[in-house]
Amino acid sequence: DRSIKIAPSILAADFANFGREIEAVEAEGADWIHVDVMDGHFVPNLTFGPAMCKAIRPHIKTVMDVHLMISPVDPYIEAFAEAGADIITAHVEAGPHIHRTMQAIRANGAKAGVALNPGTPAESVEYLLDMVDLICVMTVNPGFGGQKFIHSQIEKVKQLRQMVGDRPIHIEIDGGVDPSTAPLVAAAGADALVAGSAVFKGGSVANPAPYGENIRAI
Ligand code: DX5
Ligand code: ZN
Repeated sequence: DRSIKIAPSILAADFANFGREIEAVEAEGADWIHVDVMDGHFVPNLTFGPAMCKAIRPHIKTVMDVHLMISPVDPYIEAFAEAGADIITAHVEAGPHIHRTMQAIRANGAKAGVALNPGTPAESVEYLLDMVDLICVMTVNPGFGGQKFIHSQIEKVKQLRQMVGDRPIHIEIDGGVDPSTAPLVAAAGADALVAGSAVFKGGSVANPAPYGENIRAI
C-alpha cells in the first residue's frame, strides 16, 4: 500500500557509508530516512548525535525522521532542529515533562513526535493529541536493530488509531517490521513503518537493488 510511508533506519546501514547508503535507499523507494539516536543511558546502546545528522542532511532528499532515545531530551532539541531534522520524536518515558518537550520541538520548527515503549499504555499520549504530528509505537524494546516484533502492541495501535480520529497525526511503527508483521500493523491503523534489517539485508551501496525489493516486499 503506497499510502504507507516506509522509513528505513540507517542503524542497519553501513556506518562507514551513510551518505551513499541514504542516496541508494532513497533511489530504491524510501519515503523517509529514520535516524536512531541513542545515549547509552535511556537505552543500552550508543549511536550518533546532531553533528552526524547535520552531515547526512545534504544526502537526504525526503524527510529526516529523528528518533531520540535519550534522556534528558530538552537540552538537545535545538541542536537536532538546526541539524535539519524534519520530525523529532521523543519518548514519553524520557522525562517528567513530555508536554513541554512537544512544545519545544514545534517552537524549533520541526514536527513533533512522541514514542511509546512496549510497556507504556496508549492513554499516556491522550493529552498530547493537539500538539503532536506523529505517534511512534515501539514494537521492540528500543536499543538495537534486528529484534523480534512484540505482537501485543497491535492492540495499542488500534487504540491509538481510534484516539487520533480525524487529526492529521501519523502512527508510526518501529521495531521488527518485515513482510510478515507489516500487514498486521497496517490493518491496525499504522501509516508509517520504520524498518532497519528488513530493508538493508542482502544489499549494499555497490548492490542496492535488494533495498528496493525489500521495500516493495514490506
Ligand atoms: C530500535 C530502533 C529501531 C531499529 C529497528 O531501538 O528504534 O528504529 O533500528 O530495527 P529493525 O527494523 O531491525 O527492528
Ligand atoms: Zn527508531
